[in-house]
Amino acid sequence: MKTEVITVSAGEGFDPECEEQLRRAGEILRKGGLVAFPTETVYGLGGDALNRESSGKIYEAKGRPSDNPLIVHIADMKALPAIVKEVTPEALKIANAFWPGPLTIILEKSERVPVETTGGLNTVAVRFPSHPVARKLIEYGGGYVAAPSANISGKPSPTVAKYVIEDMDGRIDMIIDGGQVGIGLESTIIDLTVSPPQILRPGFVTEAMLLEVLGQVDVDQTILSNDTGRAPKAPGMKYRHYAPAGELTIVSGEERQVAAYINRQVEEARKQGQKTGVIGSLETRNLYCADVVKNIGNRQEEATIAHNLYRILREFDDEKVDVIFSESFHSDGMGQAIMNRLLKAAGHKMIYLEKEENGGK
Ligand code: TXA
Ligand code: MG
Repeated sequence: MKTEVITVSAGEGFDPECEEQLRRAGEILRKGGLVAFPTETVYGLGGDALNRESSGKIYEAKGRPSDNPLIVHIADMKALPAIVKEVTPEALKIANAFWPGPLTIILEKSERVPVETTGGLNTVAVRFPSHPVARKLIEYGGGYVAAPSANISGKPSPTVAKYVIEDMDGRIDMIIDGGQVGIGLESTIIDLTVSPPQILRPGFVTEAMLLEVLGQVDVDQTILSNDTGRAPKAPGMKYRHYAPAGELTIVSGEERQVAAYINRQVEEARKQGQKTGVIGSLETRNLYCADVVKNIGNRQEEATIAHNLYRILREFDDEKVDVIFSESFHSDGMGQAIMNRLLKAAGHKMIYLEKEENGGK
């Protein structure tokens, strides 16, 4: 299949040429084709959510297990009632507070949503994104766009079109290049079919923000731990995900101690002929001696760290790095989403260094 790549810049509005291209992209979706597009979180791989064949094509293009449900994207609150059994009071509260935006809700599904889209479940995940290109495409595409992240299953989600093209060229009809996305990590997912509502995947909309609106929320305990003995509630969260090709280890401890430990590991790995990489921060990058040292940003700025994480993981693949070490980051607020993705990318391989006596000498 030949994949067409178009560039659309998102500003206040669209010029007539962009408008026409998005109309054409929408037409592809209506006819059952697949179009990758930017959202405010990551790039999505879209198909008509109400067309079972389109959903089948999405699983095939991604190489994704078909028990892993897709998120249905809408561009208007009026579109919600048709695809769910009931728009619950919680759903309304959440929609008022966070939509359009990087939050996905789970509700009981209506008959209109095929089980191919929901991975066989009776529930459906719904998101109303804020990105203007995404919204326009959904409108032109018929109002309901199923879209997982636009990566081959298991790889980090794409935050720039370059990585969508790398994974999807030849597999889908069209890729819309809308530049770099803003947030860089997938949407927060909250299950509203249980009481109290439960966060299944952390994201830009944090637990504290949801608590303020709902009064009560639970968090799926598998988010930051893999030894709960339970499977995550979001089927997709059980897979080793977001992973670079190289072997990633997270190292937690005092700054200089972490650097010293990582540098020793780097030396060892190099002796074995391996190419080494480190994820450091603005404050610490100069402490490392690896072949490739990435600066993920200021340790205090979680939005910057989130924005850079997937791009950096992908760049290690580009540079064919065999072993990667990363600093650990705090897990409050949006840090919960950052550590959730980093831990999954590392297959939960994390080293905790004991605090040394005598000031680390
Ligand atoms: O930010 C995002 O949400 C991006 C952009 C493209 O919108 N999309 C995205 O989709 O991250 P995906 O397919 O990569 O992740 C969807 C997650 C999976 O872990 C899936 O198992 C879970 O949502 N999910 C979908 N429907 C569900 C349901 N009915 N119940 C529980 N989990 C569900
Ligand atoms: Mg994904």
